Amino acid sequence: MSQSREPDHSALRTPHSELEWWRTAVFYEIYVRSFQDSNGDGIGDLAGITQRLDYLNDGTPHSLGVDALWLTPINPSPMFDFGYDVSDYCAVDPVFGTLGDLDTLIAAAHQRNIRVILDLVPNHTSHLHAWFRESRSSRTNPKREWYIWRDAAPDGGPPNNWVSVFGGPAWELDETTGQYYLHSFLVEQPDLNYRNPAVRDAIENVIKFWLDRGVDGFRVDVIHKMVKDATLRSNPKPEPDQEHPIIHYGGQVHRYDEDQPEVHDIIQSWRRILDRYGHRAMVGEVGLYDPVRIAAYQGNGHDELPLGFNFRFLWTPWDAASFRERIDEIERVWPAAAQPTYTLSNHDVPRHRSRFDDPIAGEARAKVAALMLLTLRGTPFMYYGEELGMRDGVIPLERVCDPVGKRFPAVGRDPCRTPMHWDRSQRAGFTTASDAWLPLAAEHDQLNVAVEGNDPRSVMSFYRRLIWYRKRTPALTHGSYRALDSANDTFVYLREHAGERRLIALNFASDARTVTLPFASGRIELSTDPARSLGMAALASLTLAASEGVLVAL
Ligand code: NOJ
Repeated sequence: MSQSREPDHSALRTPHSELEWWRTAVFYEIYVRSFQDSNGDGIGDLAGITQRLDYLNDGTPHSLGVDALWLTPINPSPMFDFGYDVSDYCAVDPVFGTLGDLDTLIAAAHQRNIRVILDLVPNHTSHLHAWFRESRSSRTNPKREWYIWRDAAPDGGPPNNWVSVFGGPAWELDETTGQYYLHSFLVEQPDLNYRNPAVRDAIENVIKFWLDRGVDGFRVDVIHKMVKDATLRSNPKPEPDQEHPIIHYGGQVHRYDEDQPEVHDIIQSWRRILDRYGHRAMVGEVGLYDPVRIAAYQGNGHDELPLGFNFRFLWTPWDAASFRERIDEIERVWPAAAQPTYTLSNHDVPRHRSRFDDPIAGEARAKVAALMLLTLRGTPFMYYGEELGMRDGVIPLERVCDPVGKRFPAVGRDPCRTPMHWDRSQRAGFTTASDAWLPLAAEHDQLNVAVEGNDPRSVMSFYRRLIWYRKRTPALTHGSYRALDSANDTFVYLREHAGERRLIALNFASDARTVTLPFASGRIELSTDPARSLGMAALASLTLAASEGVLVAL
């Protein structure tokens, strides 16, 4: 990889110097512990990411071509939840490097026209954060009201019936002061109290601190959880015939412990800060199921979140009708001025290569999924390694790290967090240590950057071609979306902008399928199937190979 560039701290170049660059960008999530270790301790770090920037985007189609990186939390943390338990919001954990390493990474990224957003975790801190240590020290401490403390219920139990997302009650009795504190996740992650203006100010100062430092924005952890019911009412139970495993986790309708109206006021004030700085993004983890409620976090499209995650694909089975239904729903309910997002994988769920795997069609499906992700009307979020077709790793019981995995092995998150595969060497080029913090996934000798980069038929080569194609095709970055009728496990849609038209036809079936299209001919410019010859083709009746997707210029 070339390292010969001169440092250049000048402003980012077009096209991403547009104010709303995040509308057209391809985002790439880096699980920092697992991307590249630079100091031989077996854990990925900031300097490691800097070393790999040319892979991500060196300005040429030899690189992947992504536009923005989301780094999972890098703040000091005792790592009970691997960084989602912050003990100091304005510093870098030594395991990942220093503030100087972050400055270097941002400058080097900007020089390559890559943006960098950080993970902001505002709902809760670590129990070891100075704020919480003070808060729990006495009932009269000035920081007491920074967290949510309550007396026991009359029976001596927790103040209400709320449950932790990670299982069990959301309240922990603190012996020192004899009151319970709220934790929506681990006991080691006490929830902040956003009904206290001092907390709002403190977190706004954190946001400004990082914006002043030059970060391009934030991914905001569980933003829908930040505000709770003022009187902490217990949640009702769902009607027995209406219980939904995701929406009603813990067997409750989450009426009072999430998605409270007051959260929008906070987000509006954050948006005003972002706008004052200009060119900054924010993507909220709105962990709700109903797209109408998710979209509400983007306000009128200009006054709340620039972007909000849409996780529907994480629970969509591999069939054309289900994907089309989810996408058409987003298109129907999303406010015109707001931009949707699409995500196939992240650090909390099994990788989509594993979810959609098939002994014969697995790799082909990974390409079809990529073609869909990167050609829909919305901002795509990739997860490191998906461009290789990486599968989940297998983690022996004694090596489980994730607190969720320790409690519920079946839904542990370590398998999707294994180290990135760079090359065929013993530890896949990730670390020089004798072992990495998590074991490598199988097939790292085949599914890696070095091998796939040299194979034009690989999943990675397909991603690369597609991302660069997308960049130069306004129909894909700015165009409208319209699904066309198609049957037999196929999904066909059009993207159009200023007279430019692209048709995408995807075959989810594991055998060939023919689609009937209302066009006589077009130029097939991309296919997931290396056997397909590109060029002009008759479209009235187009036969797609098993698990093939094509992109056609009309
Ligand atoms: C969502 C994050 O993505 C997840 O990894 C974390 O455990 C929880 N929020 C708690 O912060």
